[in-house]
Amino acid sequence: DKGGYKHFMAKEIAEQPRVLSAAADYYLGGRDTADRMGRELLESIDFSNVDRLVMVACGTAALACHTAKYWFEQIARLPVEVDIASEYRYREPPLSDRTVALFVSQSGETADTLAALRYCAGKARKIVSVVNVATSSIARESDVALPILAGTEIGVASTKAFTCQLTVLATMAITAARQRGHLDAAAETKLCEQLMAVPRLVGQALTCEEEVKKIASHLGHVSDALFLGRGAMYPLALEGALKLKEISYIHAEGYASGELKHGPIALVDDKLPVVVLAPSDALFDKSVSNMQEVMARGGKIIMVSDQAGLSEGGEGVWKTIEMPTIEGPFAAITYAVPMQLLSYHTAIEKGTDVDQPRNLAKSVTVE
Ligand code: M6R
Repeated sequence: DKGGYKHFMAKEIAEQPRVLSAAADYYLGGRDTADRMGRELLESIDFSNVDRLVMVACGTAALACHTAKYWFEQIARLPVEVDIASEYRYREPPLSDRTVALFVSQSGETADTLAALRYCAGKARKIVSVVNVATSSIARESDVALPILAGTEIGVASTKAFTCQLTVLATMAITAARQRGHLDAAAETKLCEQLMAVPRLVGQALTCEEEVKKIASHLGHVSDALFLGRGAMYPLALEGALKLKEISYIHAEGYASGELKHGPIALVDDKLPVVVLAPSDALFDKSVSNMQEVMARGGKIIMVSDQAGLSEGGEGVWKTIEMPTIEGPFAAITYAVPMQLLSYHTAIEKGTDVDQPRNLAKSVTVE
């Protein structure tokens, strides 16, 4: 049931404020403190004597891991390795019993992710998974399985599962930080509040849809696009590019903004749209100078930022998408919304099959 929406993808994008709030509540014990299940699951991982976290997944789930790496390193001071499952499983990576191995999968049935989990079983201290399907193989074979509570996701392009994965990984990073002695009570409360604010911020971000539609009416006619970001916005740039490729079949690449000069800037001409994810944070000035390098070569910047960022760095850009002002480290969850909407409306503009893109399956259960 599409609930009145034209596509499952549109319905699933719109559901995010509600499902994100359910996920944050479950793990942070918001309104329903009687249910301590989520908190207990998190506590049971025990990051206190761990010296490494290995995160393994495929596609969008791997990009959720890549984003969460920034949080685990910055907040919990925990060294993190992220890899895609198809590479990890054959690399024969050494593992010690001071390593937590974490697998993220919406379906819980992705063949490569399951094989990587089986490789780690018996070697790592603990096998943890973050899944949407609680009865899945990956959940069943884990020591601790954390549900993302996104509800069924039908659209092949992952949307609400991605933001719910990020939310759960953020609660895990906060818990790990406390267990490892890097967070006092006040700092923990602040981070929890910042994460609890995300569903409301995502609701606000959804109001950029009209602006995004206008931009998509142009994007529907280009053959290539570039996505740039720094810090946790870098994996999100990869996710924006993946989403656009998947459902609109436009060739798109994501890059860390700092890599621009090392190759991709050669692609820039007056036809190339370049989406820049630049919230006004500590890295903002660096992002603006990368944007200027693109504009100097005629590239068409689509700047995604908050009010302060747009007024400070938005001069001369082609289009803007305004996001709410966001405090703290979790802005990437909210900035996922314009990435989803941009690919969705571009696909509509092109008339492609949004929910069932060609050549793709919802769950990749063969290698
Ligand atoms: O079910 P999983 O989360 O393990 O699936 C992983 C990928 O196949 C999946 O995220 C894929 O990249 C999506 N179609 C992206 O939108």
